[in-house]
Amino acid sequence: MNPSLPTTSELMLRAFRARTAVPGFNIPYLPMMAPVVRALRDTRCFGLIMAARLEWTKFQAGGIQPLFDEYQKVKDERFTRLHLDHVPVIDEDQLLVDFEGDIGQAVALGYDSVMVDGSRLSLAENIAATKRIVDLAHAQGVAVEAELGAVFGHESGPMPPYEELFESGRGFTDPAEALEFVLGSGVDWLSVAIGSVHGVISEKRTEKKVAARLSIERLDAIRETINIPIVLHGGTGIRKEYIIESIRHGVAKINVATAIRQPYEALLKESPEKALDAVYAETVRVIREDLELEGSADVIQPSRPA
Ligand code: 13P
Repeated sequence: MNPSLPTTSELMLRAFRARTAVPGFNIPYLPMMAPVVRALRDTRCFGLIMAARLEWTKFQAGGIQPLFDEYQKVKDERFTRLHLDHVPVIDEDQLLVDFEGDIGQAVALGYDSVMVDGSRLSLAENIAATKRIVDLAHAQGVAVEAELGAVFGHESGPMPPYEELFESGRGFTDPAEALEFVLGSGVDWLSVAIGSVHGVISEKRTEKKVAARLSIERLDAIRETINIPIVLHGGTGIRKEYIIESIRHGVAKINVATAIRQPYEALLKESPEKALDAVYAETVRVIREDLELEGSADVIQPSRPA
């Protein structure tokens, strides 16, 4: 990365303090990366280009190296950084993952930030796994995100009815546990469960997502306790008023995958060119309309000669 530019860590802290946010866009198919970078530049929005492990095991993102190579071709570091999303310790099929191997590879290549997902483990195991990644990544100046609580939607099989889930608060992140987690692991950003759900990846992956709500009360309690940038996964389909409110209350990174993947998959057979145009148009729309983050780069990274 260009050393005269602020690090992703620094930009995330600025976003958190300014109560604005950094969108992270998932890339399940490598060709989607170029139009997403273009959309970020054209809207002057600072955002992360990212892929989760399941995007190369269950979609066509290629892998850690192909994603890195593609990023080198299309990046614009004033508006973009490369993030490794969800590398689970235990994956969605309940299998153990060589998470240290995958994340170590990304750190060595030069990814700007990484995520370790130990949310299927006990609190103590999640802390221990995250700390191992923090030690490995911080040694190279790479920021780490982790998850505490259960953001549903990645598991195979049917999900419980959404309203029932939300009302019960089942799986929501507990503020006291969050503090223990942050202090014990040294993590930089925390992904929390406050009502959002991941886009479905199973047979229902072409369906429209539920209109999720968020518990701003729970978000406040977590932020007041941990005071580090908070990450919201499952960014597609959350009711807009909740998204905007969550940014004002400490959500500093929002992950968006389904919104830009579905139009790409719908048009790919008809015309790859039209599919890429649709990714560009949808990314611009999400930034402008759903997240209201157009121009955010000028807030967190004011212009100066590079
Ligand atoms: P959506 O598919 O709901 O946008 O979620 C993306 C996500 O959280 C990736 O980590």
